Amino acid sequence: MLEEVEIAFISENDLDEVYQIEIECFGEDAYPRWVFRYLLENSNSIFLKASTNNLIVGFIVGICSRRRCHLYTIDVRKAYRRRNIGSMLLEAFEREAIKRNVELVILQVEVNNLPALNLYLKRGYKIVKRIKNYYGLGRDAYEACKNL
Ligand SMILES: CC(C)(COP(=O)(O)OP(=O)(O)OC[C@H]1O[C@@H](n2cnc3c(N)ncnc32)[C@H](O)[C@@H]1OP(=O)(O)O)[C@@H](O)C(=O)NCCC(=O)NCCS
Repeated sequence: MLEEVEIAFISENDLDEVYQIEIECFGEDAYPRWVFRYLLENSNSIFLKASTNNLIVGFIVGICSRRRCHLYTIDVRKAYRRRNIGSMLLEAFEREAIKRNVELVILQVEVNNLPALNLYLKRGYKIVKRIKNYYGLGRDAYEACKNL
């Protein structure tokens, strides 16, 4: 059964929960906590959460600069995956980027991260290059982008 999912901007009070989700998703590869505070305080960031029953179940964050937006990450709690929440977050992120006159979203994704890769391809992102060792030795990334 699908609960109602609400998308909203992240606030200071959400940071602990957001960081907990980042750890759940990436473990030792998680961004450090200070990065999320920096992103929250940066007026060029788009930082959105998806909540259901007052629980944050996912978030998305990126930074815009002129006509481009760099999508840093999109994280959904394991127990809430495959319920369209990642897609909703990405769609809301793109809508907000368009409001800010962004024309291009750019992202990197590890080549073996099939859930994320499929999500991006499904939403119209195109792979533009492969970056060797982007995530560490032997861990390549695809760079992908989408014109809004
Ligand atoms: C990637 C992630 C955000 C997807 O979130 P989600 O809410 O499960 O995604 P959705 O339910 O909206 O799925 C949308 C599409 O993505 C693809 N997808 C999602 N999970 C998938 C999986 N486990 N295997 C293959 N494709 C998958 C499918 O194409 C899916 O469409 P479909 O359900 O019609 O087949 C989630 O798996 C996650 O948080 N992963 C860990 C964090 C991460 O790697 N983030 C990306 C950093 S670049």
